[in-house]
Amino acid sequence: MGEKILGVIFDLDGVIVSTDNCHYLAWKRMADEEGIPFDRKVNERLRGVSRMESLAIILERASRAYTQEEKLALAERKNGYYVQLIGQLTQNDILPGALDTLRLLKEQNVKVAIGSSSRNTPIILRQIGLSDAFDAIADGNAIRNSKPDPEVFLLAARLLGLAPANCLVVEDADAGVQAALAGGMRALGVGSAAANPTATFHSQSLQTADFASILNA
Ligand code: BG6
Ligand code: MG
Repeated sequence: MGEKILGVIFDLDGVIVSTDNCHYLAWKRMADEEGIPFDRKVNERLRGVSRMESLAIILERASRAYTQEEKLALAERKNGYYVQLIGQLTQNDILPGALDTLRLLKEQNVKVAIGSSSRNTPIILRQIGLSDAFDAIADGNAIRNSKPDPEVFLLAARLLGLAPANCLVVEDADAGVQAALAGGMRALGVGSAAANPTATFHSQSLQTADFASILNA
């Protein structure tokens, strides 16, 4: 039996909301324009990874080197396409089980936070109507080191006023599970991280996660 879980820190993309396809389509458009091979398999490697680090992974297949200035322009172009796409998100894009989980945790007086690498976190939360649903928000705008560095989760815990040992992180990215553990927190792996052997708890999605037993573990 571990320390009591007093706060749950949710990754945003792939845990609360389905933005995978928007990221894919935006990167794909930029990569096609540049003649850089990019597919859904490479896209999987971008899960949880910051914008510039994602670009570096895509550029591994580029046929020429890009200057830092060009890289910034490519990332900005992709983000322009991405922001257009997430402008279409609605409450229907909230992933199954997310709202029920938030309700259950509030009933149990467990604090809830967002811990996301995305600098678009405020736009996304607004689109899906969850801007006021969390006690704290730590996102890509507030950190220097992205997952697997624990910085974003440590910030979320600090904003909640909780010790890391009292926090559970919910993640769909292996880099995020690694970040949570590095920060001294427990991790529930869902979606693509559901089979991550290092995660403390596992579930296909928030819909199937047994929070009643996780909170008492
Ligand atoms: C993470 C996504 O949540 O945010 C990554 O899983 C993405 O794929 C990262 O690269 C950064 O997002 P943004 O919105 O700041 O470009
Ligand atoms: Mg994610």
